[in-house]
Amino acid sequence: MSPSHEAGWAHVEGALRPHHGGPGWLHPPGNPNALVASLWSSTARKSDGDLVVGGVSVPDLVANVNTPAYILDEADLRARARAFKDAFAGYDIYYAGKAFLCTTVARWVAEEGLSLDVCSDGELTVALRAGFDPARIGYHGNTKTEMELVRAVGEGVGRIVVDSFDEIERLARVTSSLRASGAVSTPQPVMVRVTAGVEAHTHEYIATAHEDQKFGFSITSGDALEAVRRVVAAPGLELLGLHSHIGSQIFDTSGFEVAARRVLALHALLAHERGVVLPELDLGGGFGIAYTTQDDPSAPAVLAAEMSAIVDHECGALGIPRPRLSIEPGRAIVGPAMCTVYTVGTVKRVELDGGVVRTYVSVDGGMSDNLRTALYDADYSCTLASRDSTAPAVLVRVVGKHCEAGDIVVKDEFLPGDVRPGDLLAVPATGAYCRSMASNYNHALRPPVVAVRDGVASTIVRRETVDDLLATDLGCLDHEDAAVAGASRRSS
Ligand code: LLP
Repeated sequence: MSPSHEAGWAHVEGALRPHHGGPGWLHPPGNPNALVASLWSSTARKSDGDLVVGGVSVPDLVANVNTPAYILDEADLRARARAFKDAFAGYDIYYAGKAFLCTTVARWVAEEGLSLDVCSDGELTVALRAGFDPARIGYHGNTKTEMELVRAVGEGVGRIVVDSFDEIERLARVTSSLRASGAVSTPQPVMVRVTAGVEAHTHEYIATAHEDQKFGFSITSGDALEAVRRVVAAPGLELLGLHSHIGSQIFDTSGFEVAARRVLALHALLAHERGVVLPELDLGGGFGIAYTTQDDPSAPAVLAAEMSAIVDHECGALGIPRPRLSIEPGRAIVGPAMCTVYTVGTVKRVELDGGVVRTYVSVDGGMSDNLRTALYDADYSCTLASRDSTAPAVLVRVVGKHCEAGDIVVKDEFLPGDVRPGDLLAVPATGAYCRSMASNYNHALRPPVVAVRDGVASTIVRRETVDDLLATDLGCLDHEDAAVAGASRRSS
C-alpha cells in the first residue's frame, strides 16, 4: 500500500523527488540536441537545431500557424498503412478512426487500400464526407442509438459490430423496418463482439477483453453463444463472425494468442454442434508504439507472422477452416506519424524537500491537446525544436497551461539546461488519441493539424477560433428570451 500523509500524497517524504535523476529507464543523453530516431516519424531530423519534418522546418511552419500545433508526416502515415497492408496480406485492415480522423486522413487510408473502423455518427459522417466507400466501413460502439443504427444501415455500412442483447434487438427492429419501407434490400452484415477473458498487459482503462468491463459478450458465461443464436435468428441480419479486441498499446502477441484460442474454440463449437460456419474473424487493434526508449514495438511483418501462425495452428487443431481475418490498428498507423509543437512560456525551478530541485517547463498547451499523461499516466519524450544548445542536460517536467496540477505533458525528460521562454518544444508520437481526445478545457482553442510532405505544409484541420467556442453559447439573454431562443434554435 502507498504511504499516506494527512496533507495529501505529494507531502509523503520523497513522493515528488526525482529519484536517481528520474525514472530508471531514462538516462541522460549523450547529446540532448539529437533526436531518438525510433520515437519520431520517418522524415523527422534536426538541421542546425531546427526540427524538420516532411522537409518542412518546424520553426518556419509555426511562424505561420502558431503553437501549439500538431504536425502530421504524410509519408510516414502512408508508409505505416502500407506496411500493415503488405504484412497482413489477405487480411482486411480497418484503420481505427478513433485514434485520429479527419477527411484528409480518411482519404489517405482509402488510397492505401485500408478499410475504416468508426464508432460514432460523427466519425461516420467524416468518413462519408471524405467519400469513403460505406461497404468498407465497420461500425463499433457499446451503446449505439436507434438513430445511429438507422443511419449506418441506411448508408450501407459494411459491418456493424453488435455489443449487447439490447442492440441486437434494436438492430433487428431497425433493419426490418428499413426493409419494409424498401430503403434497404439486403441483410445487414454483423459481427458479434466477444470478450475472451484475457488480461492484456496495458493500462486498466484501455484493456478491453477481461470480464469486468463494459464491452462485448463473455465467452465464458455463454452470452457470446446466445448472441450468435439471436443474430442468426434475426431475418434482417447476416452473421459474418466474431470480433475480439483485447486492448490497446500491447506489445506482446501472447494476449492475442489466448484470445484467438478461445474465440476459435467458439467457432469450432458453432461449426460442429450448431452447423454455423462463421466466415470471418476480427482480432481487433491494439498494437503498441514507442513513446519513449522503454517501448520496443514489433514490426507489422513480425506481428502478422505470429498472429497467422497462431490462427493456423488453432484452426488445424480444431478441425475448422481458417476464417477470413481482419484487424483494426489505429495507434500503430497514426501515432508515430504526428508530433506536437509547443512554445515554452516559463521555466520554474522548484526546490523540494532535501534540496532536490525539479525544473518545470510550462508550454502553451497541455491536457487539452494531450490528455493521455493525465488520464493514463502515459510517458512521452520531447526535444528542443528551434535551436541547438551546448548547455548540459537537466531533468525537467513539461507541464501545460491549465488550472490543474495534473496537467503534465511529459513527466520526465532531459533537456538542455538553458531551456527558456520562447523555445519551441516538440513531443513525438502524438498522432493517436491526442487531437481525437482534445478538449476545450479552460476554453482552450484546439490546435490545428498541419500535414507536411516533400517540403510543403498544408493545414488539414484549422485551429479553432473564439467564434467556434462561442458558436454553441446562446448568449446573455434574459431568462424568458433565453428559453424561447433556446427552443427555437434547438428546433431549427
Ligand atoms: N478496435 C476497437 C474495437 C477498439 O476499441 C480500438 C481502440 C481499436 C480497434 C484501436 O486500437 P489501437 O490500435 O489504436 O490501440 N484512448 C486510449 C486508447 C483507447 C482505445 C480505444 N479502442 C489511449 O489513448 O491510449
